[in-house]
Amino acid sequence: MINVAVMGYGTVGSGVVEVVNTNGARINQRIGEELNIKYVLDLRDFPGDPVQEKIIHDFETIINDDDVQIVVEVMGGIEPAYTFVKRCLQAGKSVATSNKALVAKHGAELLSIAKDHNINFLFEASVGGGIPIIRPLNSSLTADEIEEITGILNGTTNYMLTKMFYEGADYNTVLKEAQANGYAERNPEADVEGYDACRKIAILSSLISGQQVDFEDIYCEGITEITVEDMKYAKAMGTTIKLLASSKRVGDRLHAIVAPCMLYPEHPLYNVNDVFNAIFVHGNVLGDAMFYGSGAGKLPTASAVVADVVDAAKHLNRNIMTMWKQEKLTLEDKGDAKRRFFVRMKGDAEKELSNLKYSFGDIEIIRIDELEGEFGFITPIMMEGDYATRANRYKEQILHMIRIEG
Ligand code: HSE
Repeated sequence: MINVAVMGYGTVGSGVVEVVNTNGARINQRIGEELNIKYVLDLRDFPGDPVQEKIIHDFETIINDDDVQIVVEVMGGIEPAYTFVKRCLQAGKSVATSNKALVAKHGAELLSIAKDHNINFLFEASVGGGIPIIRPLNSSLTADEIEEITGILNGTTNYMLTKMFYEGADYNTVLKEAQANGYAERNPEADVEGYDACRKIAILSSLISGQQVDFEDIYCEGITEITVEDMKYAKAMGTTIKLLASSKRVGDRLHAIVAPCMLYPEHPLYNVNDVFNAIFVHGNVLGDAMFYGSGAGKLPTASAVVADVVDAAKHLNRNIMTMWKQEKLTLEDKGDAKRRFFVRMKGDAEKELSNLKYSFGDIEIIRIDELEGEFGFITPIMMEGDYATRANRYKEQILHMIRIEG
């Protein structure tokens, strides 16, 4: 029998228990042994819930029980999760976590402790919810130099942008719906400001580079400034707006960014809607690959956590991960990235045209009849630093800038 302790009985923790209860027989077949959830650590009690008989309140019970071989950490946040996970690994217990904040900040160190103890620190659920992406990067795409990963990595904001785009829905209403569906973070600021997607692309960037990519170094812009008017321009241009998290190789460096972007229908992420996530990967010998599926929510996330538990159970005394050193990677300067920009501006397009052409080059004007006193334009491809210098001359007039992907 393989004994597991689950730390945290929130949305994902209760999902983990549900997945094991629902699919236990099949899971046991796959492991070749019986999987038993021995403890569930939580501050609260759950009277009337069958889980109550497994509830413990003291972490030391887990550490002191040599029968517990695998620990699931689904508490979220850095502390006490970090201290608990580190102590579990040091005590020779493999850990599976969905905690992207923990993985993004301490992944390299925790992987190294797991390696030293010949056990595993696994975190499939930390990126893309139920979509397999960590294991494919570590185990399948190992022949490639990964040149690009671009993803829709946050279900909450994708759900919101989809509703805003297709239904003209109001920002606050759709945020409440996403929260009610259990997609949003406890503090939804992490979703709408892009921090959640940023931690996830930091993890993926670290995995493809083998070095530490700090999420604080990644330029991060959320969706809070996206308006109904922006959506109207997007539609007029035949594009949609998605919150993209992207990491592209430039020589020895990576260019990483999280920002809302306009996508044309040819882009592989254009049709990724609602709470779904998708991750586009380009390898130098593979070419393109796409990973698509349920990116948030209780059971999809729990499915990935339990799959990690199965993997840990199949490799109890063998480390199966991975290249991610603590040495920090310097990212490429954001100003050096080249792309086109969509700009909304106050004023009259006819009057501004020659000035704008002089500043930005051959721009394309976009007009929306119902939006008076403003217009939009698309710049040619230019470096972001150059765009910023030129746009600075018009800062009183510019209402919004959105990057164009592809
Ligand atoms: N709040 C996250 C999201 C949960 O909306 O994608 C999954 O990490």
